[in-house]
Order: sequence, then structure tokens, then C-alpha cells
Amino acid sequence: MIKTALLQEEGILEAARIIQAGGLVGMPTETVYGLGANGLDPAAVARIFEAKGRPQDNPLILHIPQADWLERYCRNIPKAAYRLAEEFWPGPLTVVLPRRSNVPNRTTGGLDTVGMRCPNHPLALALIQAADLPVAAPSGNTSGKPSPTTARHMLEDMDGKIDAILDGGPCSVGVESTIVDLTCHIPRLLRPGGVTLEQLQRVLGEVVVDPAVTRLMKSGEKPKAPGMKYRHYAPKAPVTVIAGTPRKTARYIFEHCSPEDGIICFDEFRDLFSAQVVEPLGSANNLEEQARRLFDALRAFDHTEVTAIWAQCPDCKGIGLAITNRLNKAAGFHIVEV
Ligand code: TXA
Ligand code: MG
Repeated sequence: MIKTALLQEEGILEAARIIQAGGLVGMPTETVYGLGANGLDPAAVARIFEAKGRPQDNPLILHIPQADWLERYCRNIPKAAYRLAEEFWPGPLTVVLPRRSNVPNRTTGGLDTVGMRCPNHPLALALIQAADLPVAAPSGNTSGKPSPTTARHMLEDMDGKIDAILDGGPCSVGVESTIVDLTCHIPRLLRPGGVTLEQLQRVLGEVVVDPAVTRLMKSGEKPKAPGMKYRHYAPKAPVTVIAGTPRKTARYIFEHCSPEDGIICFDEFRDLFSAQVVEPLGSANNLEEQARRLFDALRAFDHTEVTAIWAQCPDCKGIGLAITNRLNKAAGFHIVEV
């Protein structure tokens, strides 16, 4: 077992050397921490899958420092990709484009497309620049667990499995990037995230929302983002999501929960649950704070004895769509509408 080094900003060059040598580095981004490796090196990429326990058919996205690197790894790039980059990069948006043959099959899970993202975090950008390579990075959690939003979360899952983690503090967005597929006739939202659907529509016009975003895939159905078919974000205890206005959902949970349950609720309602383990998400009208807190809240229950978790859920406006999607997935789409 290798010992995982915790590096600070001064360790960027060391982290870059590890990536160049085929190793694995935990990389802070504005969304979540990523598990980074040289995206052009099939052996390094194979180590990512191994450390996460990730299914081989689930492709990785490549992180680049600026939009003019797109040409190196993608072909037939539509103008829309540059318009999006202009508007949202560096930032929480991944675009899916046709790949060039220098991107290994291992990285794309055999797909002829590749997801590209330019993260908005000074340490991530400095690391990619110093390594001078596209950094393949899935979220740095063990497959199926909530994504890490602090270096400590990442250490929980990856200690002894990877070479180093670069500590860039807590992530400012807290849910993963928005993924939009530009290889379809009409751009398609594969995963809601830090850039909202409304923001995408302003730049692209019509955007199709992939069905995997809002409901469970039926057996035999294939979502376009392979990762959307896997159980994800799940704490050990089963989660039930309650959807509706904040007052109604708080009342429903209050009436149905037992003292040994865990509760994810908006700050306004935390005093209702004095016997339970409570993870407040933030104020009911502060979606940004809810997004930042969500994965830490889901993870926290694994350090407790709770046997069931109830979650209040925001509506789907703005980044609320991403929060709802992650909560619904954590609950295996076990949702009660009130
Ligand atoms: O915010 C983020 O995107 C974070 C940070 C580290 O950048 N990364 C991240 O990666 O969330 P990951 O691997 O956990 O999620 C990427 C998702 C997966 O569901 C995968 O199936 C999908 O993107 N994906 C990757 N390449 C794809 C492609 N070519 N076509 C369709 N879906 C793709
Ligand atoms: Mg992930």
C-alpha cells in the first residue's frame, strides 16, 4: 500500500511530476475533488478505475486549462462549444465532443466521444499547466459514494490507494459539473450541475434534458452518460426524498420520522427534529449553500447509527435541478410528493 501525501499549494510541482510519471493525485476543483491522472496514458487511467472500484465502461472526462486545447483532443468541434467555453469556462461545465484517436479507449470507456472541462480552481489550473497534459479526473470518491468536497472526504475514500491529494480547501460549488452533449442534433443535458439549464438555454436555445436526469432508467434503457445508470451518492442508510413546498415537506417528515432517523432539512426547520441526527442544508431559499453542503451532509450519516434518512428537497429551478438529481439518485428515486 502506498502512503498518500497531503500537499498544499507549494506542492503543485510535485503533484505535476506524479501525474507525468503515471501516478494518481487528488485535485481540488470548484465542483468536487477529482482523482487525477494523465488522460493520455492508458496504464495511469487504469489505476483510476482500480482506486475507485469504477466500472470500466464509465468514461472519464479530460480537464484542460483553456479552450484552445480542445482541438488537440477533439474533432468536428461545433461553434456552440466555443460559445459555451467563452461564457462558462473556466467553470462547472463539461462538453461532450467527438474525440481524436490520441485519446485512449481506456479513458472514454470505448466511446468515440470525450467529455472536456476547464475547471475554475487556481490549483487545478496550475496543476494541469505544470503537468502540461490533459488530466483525466472522475470525482474522487469510491464508486457509489457521495463525491468529495473537501480533502478530508477524499482521504476517507482514497488513503493508501493514491499518491497524493492537493488540498485546495472546500469546493465552492459542491455538486459536479453540468454535462452537455454537443454531438446530438439538439444539445442534450446529460447531467445537471453548476451551470444551470436556464444558463445553457440562453446560449444554445433549445436543450433536450436526458430522461436519466429526472427518473430511474428502466431495465434495458441506456442513458447517454454511462455513469447515470449506476447507484450513486448513497449513504449506507436508505434515503427517502420528500418533494413539495418546504412547509409541507417538513411537516410530512416530522409526522413520519422516528427518533433514530437522520434528517436533511432546510435551516428554518431544524428545531423540529430535536431527537434525530440533523444535517441542515442551508436556508430554504439559498440553493447555492444547499449545493455546497449536500455531499458533506450525505457523508456525515455514515459516521452515525441512523437507520433511515429523510430529505427535504428544493424545487428544480436553477441549481435546484442538480441538487434534486443528486438527492433522488442517493434515494434510488424513492421520492414522496406531498
Ligand atoms: O465536476 C466534475 O465534473 C467532476 C470534477 C472532478 O471535474 N468530475 C466528475 O467526473 O464528476 P465523474 O467521472 O465522476 O462524472 C463524469 C460523468 C459520468 O457520469 C460519465 O459517465 C459521464 O460523465 N461521461 C464522461 N464522458 C462521457 C462521454 N463521452 N459521453 C457521455 N457521458 C460521459
Ligand atoms: Mg462521479
